[in-house]
Amino acid sequence: MSTAFCRKFGVEHPIVLAPMGRVGPPELVAAVSNAGGLGLAPLWTDGPDTMRSEIRRIKELTDKPFGVNLNMDFRNEEQLDVCLEEGVEVLSLFWGDTGNFVERAKAGGTKVIITASTAESAREAVDLGADAICAQGWEAGGHVEGKVSTMALVPAVVDAVGEVPVVAAGGIADGRGLAAAIALGASAVWIGTRFLAAEEAPVHPVYLERLFAASEDDTDHYDDLYDLVWPNAPHRALKNSTSAVWEAAGKPPLGERPREGDVLARRPDGVEIPRYASAVAFAALEGEIEPLPLWSGQGVGLVNKVQPAAEIVQEIVKQAKAIVDF
Ligand SMILES: Cc1cc2nc3c(=O)[nH]c(=O)nc-3n(C[C@H](O)[C@H](O)[C@H](O)COP(=O)(O)O)c2cc1C
Repeated sequence: MSTAFCRKFGVEHPIVLAPMGRVGPPELVAAVSNAGGLGLAPLWTDGPDTMRSEIRRIKELTDKPFGVNLNMDFRNEEQLDVCLEEGVEVLSLFWGDTGNFVERAKAGGTKVIITASTAESAREAVDLGADAICAQGWEAGGHVEGKVSTMALVPAVVDAVGEVPVVAAGGIADGRGLAAAIALGASAVWIGTRFLAAEEAPVHPVYLERLFAASEDDTDHYDDLYDLVWPNAPHRALKNSTSAVWEAAGKPPLGERPREGDVLARRPDGVEIPRYASAVAFAALEGEIEPLPLWSGQGVGLVNKVQPAAEIVQEIVKQAKAIVDF
């Protein structure tokens, strides 16, 4: 199986592990890359030293291509310096003005993927020099910038960007999704929620349990529910007790919400996680997990067992190949 994306990024299969803050460790990134996909490491919450050691750890675990994801709302030159110094092959940029990052990355020989949520923003990303576009549809889990579904967005972006490979994201969880994305003109898929159930993903057991119990109708898209720490960033997560009390109170803004100031959980380093914080329920958290943001895409109904990441990649490829030939 080879597509324009595979050829450009030197990978065997058109499957990208979506970067997922705190639940996408080197072991998961490397497992997806070793299985022939492209693993992306979500290192934007790390300081330069931690970033460097995470990148080096990935390099110990794989000699295949992998990438690093940076958040442009928290744009940090030092993080880019580390990626370039460490020879990171692929940079994934999301959310906001990329500044001089594309120019600097490309001058350093790094390929750049920019996440876009409209055809117009995809075209702008290509004008900046993007090597591929991640077209993120509204079904996606985590932070979601746009309001267009994957089904409508992908062909619009494909038409807008010419030869530049498009990676479809949002609601894709199995081989049928990969086949559909290829049919829409994408040349790879970018999968988050399904990989939360990878053996290598350090997801808290309560979060995992909720994912397995959820149907396609159990997520919601919120403009500003979990906006503590990262405001003005809409997102999709499982409905839970926090969304229920907030909705029952008429969806008040931060400062007027029920049970604000509750400390729900603690990280191993002692950092407290208050209600409404934009946090991730990773395995090492202690405390109340269910009221935290349980990020999830609408494809969650297809996620029902823990598997090694490599098996997920193989299963998706096999199922897609039985549907479309590419
Ligand atoms: C738990 C979680 C954390 C995420 N963290 C990030 C992140 O740090 N950077 C990013 O670009 N996207 C992040 N996303 C969004 C994914 O990159 C991707 O767009 C999304 O997962 C695709 O939709 P799906 O979950 O339906 O597969 C996250 C998604 C989830 C579910």
